[in-house]
Formats: sequence, C-alpha cells, structure tokens
Amino acid sequence: MKPLIAGNWKMNGSLAANEALVKAMLDGLGSQTPGADMALCVPAPYLAQLQSLVSGSAISLGAQDVSAHEQGAFTGEVSATMLKDFACRYVIVGHSERRQYQGETDLLVADKAKAALAQGITPIVCVGETLAERDAGQTEAVVKRQLAAVIHAVAHCTSEIVVAYEPVWAIGTGKTASPEQAQQVHAVLRAQLAAATQHPERVHILYGGSMNAANAASLLAQPDIDGGLIGGASLKSADFLQIVASAL
Ligand code: PGA
Repeated sequence: MKPLIAGNWKMNGSLAANEALVKAMLDGLGSQTPGADMALCVPAPYLAQLQSLVSGSAISLGAQDVSAHEQGAFTGEVSATMLKDFACRYVIVGHSERRQYQGETDLLVADKAKAALAQGITPIVCVGETLAERDAGQTEAVVKRQLAAVIHAVAHCTSEIVVAYEPVWAIGTGKTASPEQAQQVHAVLRAQLAAATQHPERVHILYGGSMNAANAASLLAQPDIDGGLIGGASLKSADFLQIVASAL
C-alpha cells in the first residue's frame, strides 16, 4: 500500500494563488511517479478550478467537509453528490476545527463519513485529543470513542475509510507529536480497526499536526503511520513535495 500525503488547505487560497501553487507542484513532480499517493483538499468554491488543474496528474482532489444529508433545504451545505460532480476522491470529515468551531459531534461526523462512502468518496476521518485530554490520560479513550462512532455507522465499509490522527495540540502550533507518541496512538487505532474489519492493513492511518519537510521522514518511518494530512506545509510547493519524497 502506497502512503497517502493529503494537503489540507483550510480556508486559504485564491484563483491566482491556487494556480501558481498547483503549477509549481506539478512542475516539481515532472514526469516522475511519486512514491506516495497525493491529494489536495481545497475549499469548495475552488473544486472546479482544481479539478481542471490536477486532471491527468498524480494529484487527486479532495474537499474539506460534506453534508450528512443527500439534498434539499440545507442552506450553505454541500452534498456528496456535488463533490462527486467535481471528481472528488476524498473528503475530510470531523476535522478538529469543525468539531471545535462548528460543534460537530461524533454522531454527525459518522453520518458525514457514511454520506461520502455512499457516493464512492473516501472520507478522511479525523480523530485527536486536546492537550487537556492528553494531560488527563484520556488520549486513547478519546480517539477510540471518535473512531467507534464512524465504525458503527459505516460497518462493513470500514476498510474503505482513511483515518487521520491529529492531536489538537499539534495542529498549526509547530508542536509535533514525537514519532513514538504518534505511533503509540496509531497502533491503538489499528487494533480498533482490526476488530471491525478483516483488512485493517488496507486502511491508511495518516498523522497530522505540524508535519513538515523536516520531521516527515521520521514520522512516516513508523510502522503504523501510512501518510500525512498536511496543513500549513501544503501551501508551499517545495515543502509539500519534500514530504511526498520522504514517504517511501
Ligand atoms: P498543520 O495542520 O499541518 O498546519 O498543523 C494539519 C491539519 O489541521 O490538518
């Protein structure tokens, strides 16, 4: 299984900046086949632009959120079928920023994962503890609770999800989990997946939280770290490509 390096642009970008960034990434890749699968999860208004920019390239398209509903009177929401229209292969669900600022619950995140899978879109399910939860010794319990809700909802499709372990205290802070700290949690998640699916090894478990060109190789060398979900460093083409190159 090839590692997966997914960029999460968050609420950044403009038509001009996106074009320059993606062109620089594609130029940097040249004709080489990267050792990792690559994806860019972009703000919804830019999906059409990105679809055309990455078409025929090694970069897949992803979104950052999806509605749990199929269609109808849900002003401002974007459905999985709409994401499908733009050839989205991935969608992030349950990012800690949405759990924190939009009040997304485990149950809602699980419904979103299910809605994505129903359209053949791979949900990148984010789990992770806050600093207070880590300090209280609750890391394992928190990530297991978050993942359990999704496993319960998607049942036999569990092997088709991607999981991203993102300790909240490491996101955008420059504080990365050490490779050992991350591996410890990834092993817990892998064991939980093993109880739910016959093929836990097929599920990418990504690490996210201040992963960058300098620390990626040591994180990706861990046995249960199958890739990265990259925020800040995905906005710089050289850094993103360096992370992709570390994932061998
Ligand atoms: P960061 O963000 O790499 O900027 O810490 C990661 C994420 O939130 O997905």
